[in-house]
Amino acid sequence: MKQKNLNVVIAGGGSTYTPGIIQAVLNNRDVFPVSKITLYDIDADRNEDMRLIIAYMLKQQKHQGIELIATLDPEEAFVGCDFVFSQIRVGGLTMREQDEKIPLKYGLVGQETCGLGGFAYGLRSIRGLLGLVAYVQQYAPEAWILNYTNPETLIAEAVRRKFPNAKMLNACDMTISIEETMARNFGYDRNNWIAQYYGLNHFGWYTSIYDKSLERDIMPELIQKLRGTPMKIASFNKGDQSWQDAWNMLSKTLQYFPEYLPNNYLEYYFFPNIVVENTDPNYTRANQVMDGRLKNTQEMVKKIRQHTDGAVLNFDFGEHGQYIVDMATSILNDSHQRFMLIVPNYGSIPNLRADAVVEVPAYVGRTGAEPIAMRQPINDFHKGLMEAQNAAEKLLVDAYFEHSYQKALQAFTLNQTVSSADKAKQVLDEMMIANKEYWPELS
Ligand code: NAD
Ligand code: G6P
Ligand code: MN
Repeated sequence: MKQKNLNVVIAGGGSTYTPGIIQAVLNNRDVFPVSKITLYDIDADRNEDMRLIIAYMLKQQKHQGIELIATLDPEEAFVGCDFVFSQIRVGGLTMREQDEKIPLKYGLVGQETCGLGGFAYGLRSIRGLLGLVAYVQQYAPEAWILNYTNPETLIAEAVRRKFPNAKMLNACDMTISIEETMARNFGYDRNNWIAQYYGLNHFGWYTSIYDKSLERDIMPELIQKLRGTPMKIASFNKGDQSWQDAWNMLSKTLQYFPEYLPNNYLEYYFFPNIVVENTDPNYTRANQVMDGRLKNTQEMVKKIRQHTDGAVLNFDFGEHGQYIVDMATSILNDSHQRFMLIVPNYGSIPNLRADAVVEVPAYVGRTGAEPIAMRQPINDFHKGLMEAQNAAEKLLVDAYFEHSYQKALQAFTLNQTVSSADKAKQVLDEMMIANKEYWPELS
């Protein structure tokens, strides 16, 4: 593996997350020496807008020796590349809006990655990701793909079936965001933490958080604090009420189940009624993102094009970008840092089926991920929830590969945000029409 002059491709270059990721790349040039950044997308306008922003960043921060290109051509993008950071969204925010709004019409959770919205997105996203992996295998078989594209478990399951040897890590920023937010709210340094966590993606629990400087497990005291007072949004997503709502719900979850610290996304499975009640079916998270992050990005581009004086850059620089760059650095330097990764189980959680895709701590080095083994069975409550979710996810991936309406209906019915097969069918049928351009044909 090359140790310098690295060539990094951002797949989904036009994403509003790109500036944050590139900022992390630029901040880490000493350990991750980049000499070429390629923005790869299928949308020429968004990719070019982002190229302008990144070019502005490079100039403003006086970075020398980095070539920047934006392309729609996979061959131009991937030949010679070392790392691909993937963050595509098949169908864009317009289809995210459908994922959220269609289930809500039937009184069900409408969410990007959880519930039936996540399943609809999954059936779109798998196709995009398999296409991307195929390109990388064709043009840069030695390159590592670090994937953020959602819905992560479905993607990981599908890629594993089609490309079992792909050099790919699947990661989610949620655990690191939870940890960072807790650390900031309650006055800890998360760099001292060794976290134990298990679950499926957006569906898991911490079982301990050992603080090396305090020399004790601080999870019980964190739970105590969180049960009393919800966390305040910290560092990124500032002023974003929907993230504040998520932290409030995390505290609520702990009032019911105080033994382990849950991933905030479990709110959609434990309290679907409350979530639906608190959601405006005509203005969902996709609308907030379009009116927030997307508009901000367009504003930046406008200012750059108009050569506006004064502050131009306005983007969140949180854990999201740093986390993916840390993973790449850990591969490059074989430094075996610890990350939460989405990997095939194979014994990590001893009493869960071996071929489930799970999210657990893993050490990352030159040969990829080395997940840890829990060595202790998980409890029946978590196991039951995870088994149902995992079976639903497996059925959905079966539906994708087999073009099976029946399997899709089973997956939709088994999803724990769904109260009846009737509703599952109504949503599936409406989603099939809305996703005609993107889903495999189901029959
Ligand atoms: P977005 O729609 O704003 O941007 C995605 C970009 O991908 C767009 O520019 C689009 O044109 C491009 N794209 C779509 N299909 C493509 C394809 N086949 N090939 C190349 N490019 C393609 O979406 P966003 O809100 O910026 O989110 C991007 C992705 O990152 C989503 O999948 C989102 O769920 C994911 N995400 C994951 C995490 C995580 O923790 N894993 C965190 C944040 C975002
Ligand atoms: C977190 C999750 C991601 C998810 C994102 C949505 O980062 O880990 O998986 O895509 O939140 O955030 P948004 O601001 O787009 O609603
Ligand atoms: Mn995530």
